[in-house]
Amino acid sequence: MQRREMSLTGVFAAVLLVLSVITGCGKGAPAYRVTEGYRSWKRTTTVELDYPIPGHGTAYRRIYISPEGENPQRGIDGSYVYPEGTMVVKEVYRQRPTSPEQEPDMFTVMIKVPHDPRSRGGWVWLVQSGEEVMVIPDAFCESCHENANEPHPYGDGNPRGVFRDYLFFPYPPPQGNGGPDQ
Ligand code: HEC
Repeated sequence: MQRREMSLTGVFAAVLLVLSVITGCGKGAPAYRVTEGYRSWKRTTTVELDYPIPGHGTAYRRIYISPEGENPQRGIDGSYVYPEGTMVVKEVYRQRPTSPEQEPDMFTVMIKVPHDPRSRGGWVWLVQSGEEVMVIPDAFCESCHENANEPHPYGDGNPRGVFRDYLFFPYPPPQGNGGPDQ
């Protein structure tokens, strides 16, 4: 798989730096944030995401999908397409949390809003840290997530390389994803 060996940590640091300088959202653009109560949503995988992924170091991650995304359109080849309004929330911790109540240090988020001019591949890509939210309108997030639509090293690895709507851990989990439905 062609993977860009970019430093995510570096980019997140840069993003947060920019966020600390500019506060508030773009004029007229919808303001997105992680929905309150997302922790009652389905987890897309129960795999312990504590291994390093490119640029992430050893941070700990947990992924939730909103109810809109529970029944994606499935192709006969096993492909996935999520409906508009689906939100996928990834909690990112600098270190493994020590209690279930602990708040994550940061969220990375995908929201299906294809009509938003800042969307890529139909998704708006967000980073949220505290009160600060930043949409990433360039190719940074989406270009790495394109790898999810091809064979890749995570979860079941998408061995047949079917379209999975940019999710490395699609829901409901395919066979071998280690997900909760198996
Ligand atoms: C260098 C590759 C790479 C980049 C860049 C990247 N991601 Fe990811 N992302 C991953 C991998 C790998 C996973 C699988 C879950 C895990 O291990 O954390 C993932 C998982 C996710 C998920 C959970 C859905 C899924 O794919 O299973 C969201 C949401 C997400 N990323 C958002 C973002 C956002 C927003 C950005 C840009 C700020 C971003 N990602 C940039 C590699 C990347």
